[in-house]
Amino acid sequence: TAADDFASRLLAWYDRAGRHDLPWMHPRTPYRVWLSEIMLQQTQVQTVMPYFERFVAALPTLPALAAASQDDVLALWSGLGYYARARNLHAAAKLCVERHDGELPRDPDALTALPGIGRSTAGAILAQAWGDRFAILDGNVKRVLARFHGVAGWPGTPAVEKALWLLAESHLPHERLADYTQAQMDFGATLCTRHDPACVICPLQADCVALRDGRVAELPTAKPS
Ligand code: ADE
Ligand code: SF4
Repeated sequence: TAADDFASRLLAWYDRAGRHDLPWMHPRTPYRVWLSEIMLQQTQVQTVMPYFERFVAALPTLPALAAASQDDVLALWSGLGYYARARNLHAAAKLCVERHDGELPRDPDALTALPGIGRSTAGAILAQAWGDRFAILDGNVKRVLARFHGVAGWPGTPAVEKALWLLAESHLPHERLADYTQAQMDFGATLCTRHDPACVICPLQADCVALRDGRVAELPTAKPS
């Protein structure tokens, strides 16, 4: 089916062109995946890498993070910006100690109940840490899906966002969920980019509605001003 094609083509592309050696992949534990996803929410991969390494060297486990002082956590975050992320991370670690035996819960509702974890971050954690079958929908994925399916309307609109979530779920493969999650991020960041996407070498080009209709530059629809 076309849905299976989307995932298998993205995975084949990822195998030859994606990122396979990011620090949080080796070892890929729930704590390390969670920390990386929070750092990556508003910061580029290249910037995050040294901060991630320093953070996990100082606080290698969730209980260690929970037991650290707020000053120590903020010092490790210093330079990354958006410090609410660090405060939420610290508070979430303490809640995991109280509620979940010091582990990150393997459950979407329990994850989104923690500060700093929304639906997409929960999906990214579940898929990468455990290989569970959950979708993500960050800015990169919204752009790819809006173009591939020709979905007009600003993705910040609830109806458009809902449609994009359904499309994201419709494409989920049954295997390799961690790689598929990373594949989508890498694909949006390096190939189907905001400006000047590489449609001529795109593995999805044969079925891309925006390319077929000459609407690549106008999708996703900009926020109304
Ligand atoms: N942004 C959020 N999560 C990411 C990841 N795992 N890789 C690259 N960019 C990301
Ligand atoms: Fe994105 Fe172009 Fe590929 Fe369509 S053909 S998914 S617009 S890179």
